[in-house]
Amino acid sequence: MSSIDPTLFQDFEHAGWERASEHYCDAFGDLTIQCAGPLLHAANVSAATHLLDVATGPGFVAGAAAAFGADVIGLDFSQAMIAEARRRHPSIAFQEGDAEALPFDASSFDAVVMNFGLLHLARPDAAIAEAHRVLRRGGRYALTVWAAPEQTLGFRLVLRAVQEHGNPNVALPEGPPFFRFSDPEEFRTVLIRTGFSDVDIKTLQLSWRLPSPDAVFDALSRGGVRTAAVLRAQTPAALEAIRAAVRLGVEACAHDGAFIVPMPAVLASGTRPV
Ligand SMILES: C[S@@+](CC[C@H](N)C(=O)[O-])C[C@H]1O[C@@H](n2cnc3c(N)ncnc32)[C@H](O)[C@@H]1O
Repeated sequence: MSSIDPTLFQDFEHAGWERASEHYCDAFGDLTIQCAGPLLHAANVSAATHLLDVATGPGFVAGAAAAFGADVIGLDFSQAMIAEARRRHPSIAFQEGDAEALPFDASSFDAVVMNFGLLHLARPDAAIAEAHRVLRRGGRYALTVWAAPEQTLGFRLVLRAVQEHGNPNVALPEGPPFFRFSDPEEFRTVLIRTGFSDVDIKTLQLSWRLPSPDAVFDALSRGGVRTAAVLRAQTPAALEAIRAAVRLGVEACAHDGAFIVPMPAVLASGTRPV
């Protein structure tokens, strides 16, 4: 039986994002922004589209949409992320709000996108239902999550290093499985069950180009929430061993003066039927 307390988990994520916001752009910005084009394409976004970018973070996808004329609102539950998004994109409307209880009327958007938000939510199914509610009929929803750790080398290196050199079972507020929606069939099933049609699932072959072999460890220990909390709970000796093991793995990805780490994502999209 699940022992997830959604409020406890959401509070944990919220505190984590308030803390991680100052590192997030440097840690993950070059990587997650690679999804902006494919996401906007999958959601049929054009210059006339009224778009909602849920879990917008620093507003990478909202910024890309505004750049070609879409009328976009970015929403995030972290005040610090919203401040960063406003600083980067002063002409875009950003507001604080919860992906699981969107502060908008039914049928108010032509398209809704969410880039790497779903895997941080206490109630992901509720967030998908909310996207469906605020979309107009015929509107399109597109969202991404990370592929499974067997494919996303950055996650695999850190998770394996914690397993081998540290303690993976530290006490954290329990949340939904981080990689649940990495399974295309699970993603498809939930979207169809929520009422979406024309569901499409594809893999995006993202590459994380890093300047140093310590950059993966640094990104995951500062720029995220759950893995960062696991790393913070390790002993100093274990943490050094974990860092060294991850560094070794990244060094094997040296290419052309940088380190290229494969980090594929799963992109799902669907239409609210007319
Ligand atoms: C991994 S970041 C993704 C940021 C951005 N979309 C990007 O393209 O990089 C996850 C974001 O989800 C936000 N978030 C997490 N739970 C949320 C919730 N329940 N409602 C709204 N935003 C949430 C966090 O504050 C954070 O900005």
